[in-house]
Amino acid sequence: METTKRTTESSPSERIEPSPPFARRPVAETVKIQPVQIMSGLEKKVILITGASSGIGAGTAEEFAKKGSWLSLCGRNAQSLADVAKKCHEAGVPQDKILQVVGDLSQEADTIAAVEKTVAHFGRLDVLVNSAGILTTGGLEDLSLEDYDQQMNINTRAVLHIMKLSLPHLLKTKGNIVNVSSITGIRAFPGVVAYNMSKAALDHLTRSVALEVASRGVRVNAVNPGVIVTDIHRRAGMDDEKYKAFLEHGKTTHAMGRVGEVKEVAKPIVFLASDDASFITGQMLAIDGGRGVMCPR
Ligand SMILES: NC(=O)c1ccc[n+]([C@@H]2O[C@H](COP(=O)([O-])OP(=O)(O)OC[C@H]3O[C@@H](n4cnc5c(N)ncnc54)[C@H](OP(=O)(O)O)[C@@H]3O)[C@@H](O)[C@H]2O)c1
Repeated sequence: METTKRTTESSPSERIEPSPPFARRPVAETVKIQPVQIMSGLEKKVILITGASSGIGAGTAEEFAKKGSWLSLCGRNAQSLADVAKKCHEAGVPQDKILQVVGDLSQEADTIAAVEKTVAHFGRLDVLVNSAGILTTGGLEDLSLEDYDQQMNINTRAVLHIMKLSLPHLLKTKGNIVNVSSITGIRAFPGVVAYNMSKAALDHLTRSVALEVASRGVRVNAVNPGVIVTDIHRRAGMDDEKYKAFLEHGKTTHAMGRVGEVKEVAKPIVFLASDDASFITGQMLAIDGGRGVMCPR
């Protein structure tokens, strides 16, 4: 649509001039330009991520890298960790701002080293993301006590330990924690009794610590994913055929008619860790395509 403007009265002949719809005007006269806000307070923040070598932890590392965060990547598999570090560097994080810490969180010394090396390298810790975890299959009748101990050791005890070690540093920075739980922490599913228990305990650990530290400026939250395509199920013993059938079945067990992708969990983790979530603590965020609110009918 053509716009018009009236020229000044002193013009030789008063006339209506057409003016182009997108005529350039001095910017300063029209709008005040704000600096572009692309970060959510995560730029140069130090993020320690366990389970960063695979699946949700690896995807989360890449999302933080896009925000300009500095990363301490923890995992057991050194090669996978190096591959994730490379992707984070390609996303713009300087090499010396990506620390790789290889260790087994079932070993207390490795858990201590993960926190100590992070703080020694960066001088601070702002965010702890606990994504390392294993899935032990078996109902009560099948489960051995060894399997139970291993499940609880990695998914709950090691998380409590690393939270405890990280807390003094997070209190200094008014940082936060995001635990990667599961929809199995909120709802019980048959055939994975120890896993269910480990995640229910993790959820209550999250709430409990959130209350302990809320008034001191530290937030603690969890995400509770439904089925997400990663290696965890195959590591738990599913062969390719069973996994394919499991994902197909997932179309009926998730209200949205599909299972989830890593980035669909990684992005909410980054949100919870960011200043955008500054008034959120003690929460379990189900990221499950509606699975947790479904009822049989
Ligand atoms: N995928 C899902 O459907 C789903 C759903 C709900 C919740 N979750 C939760 O999401 C988290 C991440 O799982 P994922 O699906 O991303 O699985 P994944 O691809 O198998 O990744 C698991 C990660 O945990 C690390 N890890 C396992 N045991 C460890 C140990 N003893 N010490 C140190 N690191 C250890 C692995 O390290 P290495 O590879 O280096 O050995 C790997 O980085 C887990 O807590 C899981 O319970 C997953």
